[in-house]
Amino acid sequence: MNIAILPGDGIGPEIMAEAVRVLEVLDLPYRSETALVGGAAYAAHGHPLPDATLKLAQSADAVLFGAVGDWKYDTLERSLRPEQAILGLRRHLQLFANFRPAICHPQLTHASSLKPELVAGLDILIVRELTGDIYFGQPRGRRLSPDGAFAGQPEAFDTMRYSRPEIERIAHVAFQAARKRSQRLTSVDKANVLETFQFWRDVVTEVHAEYPDVALDHLYVDNAAMQLVKAPKAFDVIVTGNMFGDILSDEAAMLTGSIGMLPSASLNADNRGLYEPSHGSAPDIAGKNIANPLATILSLAMMLRFSLNQPEAALRIEAAVTRVLESGLRTADIWSEGTQRVGTREMGAAIVAAVKAA
Ligand code: IPM
Ligand code: MG
Repeated sequence: MNIAILPGDGIGPEIMAEAVRVLEVLDLPYRSETALVGGAAYAAHGHPLPDATLKLAQSADAVLFGAVGDWKYDTLERSLRPEQAILGLRRHLQLFANFRPAICHPQLTHASSLKPELVAGLDILIVRELTGDIYFGQPRGRRLSPDGAFAGQPEAFDTMRYSRPEIERIAHVAFQAARKRSQRLTSVDKANVLETFQFWRDVVTEVHAEYPDVALDHLYVDNAAMQLVKAPKAFDVIVTGNMFGDILSDEAAMLTGSIGMLPSASLNADNRGLYEPSHGSAPDIAGKNIANPLATILSLAMMLRFSLNQPEAALRIEAAVTRVLESGLRTADIWSEGTQRVGTREMGAAIVAAVKAA
């Protein structure tokens, strides 16, 4: 097993250090190599996704990714910003299928901003298409004013588009995921307004013919956003495009109490993938030993299960997380009255100890 480790920016290196410690105690045969990505790579090599980093990711069986982004790079031209690293990895590795589970751990029901009865036992899966839509559609750009100046330019544009094969393949992934869960799939679109998403609805409906055992319904994205906070447990698997999936997955994550708990997997057609926490680089808390490493540690578990065929190791990690939460340890983002507040390193150490004890 060849694992590429890309810690990135902000809290990325801190949370990754804890995930790597967990990987080390599992006693699996693996080789890993670490590389710079995002702002850290720009600072060292002048590009957020240097060739060496991309090659390492392409040659690995799986990529464990921290987070990228820092305000200090916000003024760079778009192609050099840290975010381009993750977008480039998704595009080059063809990671079209993004799994974002939103699970409310029973110990954290009270950390949610929703009433506990609305989120207790919540377990939904957002399947987000990740390499198409307005994120990657061409043409895109800015029309410059006649003198080429930035000021006074008349317009900017991005193109929302989806091809039939792009929708078909993500629909198959989502129906198959739904088949393994409660046989229910909700497709989220904006078919009432957008041509692209009327097409999305039509193609998902066509693919449904191959999955008669799965119940399919369609929701407009605005309604889906509302239903997610009104009755989140009514959902099981949600499939949607890149842009809507970006927004709804943050919303769903927050229902569970903290985005600091949620892992994600981005897979290509061969089940090779990139695994990353659903949260960002949080530069405001970087280096303070307060970030929650559990989303990254749980992303490691997803990696072992989906790309490296080590389901027992994945279960050991997940069981360790449950036990540590049961013991009352909490990082600041999930702390509540009566629990014990710990830092990033202490949380990582507790998970390592629990994995060893299992
Ligand atoms: C995410 C992030 C990314 C996205 C950014 C960092 C490019 O918000 O993974 O959800 O918009 O996809
Ligand atoms: Mg996002």
